[in-house]
Amino acid sequence: MNADETQAPTVGGVRTTRRRSRTSPAKESALRDLLPRFAASTAGPLPATWLEEARHDGPVALDVGVGDGAATRAWARARPELLVVAVELHRPGLAKLLVALDEEALGNVRVVEADAVELLARCEPATVAAIRLLFPDPWPKRRHVARRMVDRSFAAAAASALAPGGELHLATDWDDYAEHARTMVAAEPRLAPERPERRIDRPVTAYEARGMAAGRAITDLVWRRR
Ligand SMILES: C[S@@+](CC[C@H](N)C(=O)[O-])C[C@H]1O[C@@H](n2cnc3c(N)ncnc32)[C@H](O)[C@@H]1O
Repeated sequence: MNADETQAPTVGGVRTTRRRSRTSPAKESALRDLLPRFAASTAGPLPATWLEEARHDGPVALDVGVGDGAATRAWARARPELLVVAVELHRPGLAKLLVALDEEALGNVRVVEADAVELLARCEPATVAAIRLLFPDPWPKRRHVARRMVDRSFAAAAASALAPGGELHLATDWDDYAEHARTMVAAEPRLAPERPERRIDRPVTAYEARGMAAGRAITDLVWRRR
């Protein structure tokens, strides 16, 4: 756990690890008022519980580390057949997403305040249509590489959760992270890299804009579940 994180109680076997961050009173009240409407519970078999709660009968997609969730909303808008479950630890980001969901009345997004790695491990095998990580924390220093979300166990958990034909999509503005992810996921025989690598149609996210302003190149990587 990072120095800026605290642990909240376990809910449905998933630790609701929180990032210690300043959440304004307005954001706290958005969380209090809107989470009950948009939160996806972590009890019971996942993602069946989410589909039942949302009364949705299409496929489930996981959007991991969504920040303010602008790209999550765009995904849900473009793919109404999906139930998009946004997983985030950062409460101010979650609050922004909740307010926007309330204003836009998007019915196919649910949010979970939880550790995405633990949540992924809780998903029943072959039940998730897509998993997306846009700009995961890069941990660029060599001594912090072990903190990167994408590692061999993440790749194995993603491969297990994804249904055959499902996709894992990562975007990063750190060449070293892209190379690290290619290596980690290559060790997972159930995931095949999509070639040629290409830009995926999606909005530019807040972190991506910062990376581009700093002159970093963007890489989108997709692997398909065999
Ligand atoms: C670099 S930001 C990118 C945010 C957004 N995707 C974007 O591109 O603007 C990484 C996000 O991942 C979240 N995050 C990091 N580790 C996480 C975890 N284990 N589970 C869920 N979210 C996580 C952070 O709180 C942060 O909001």
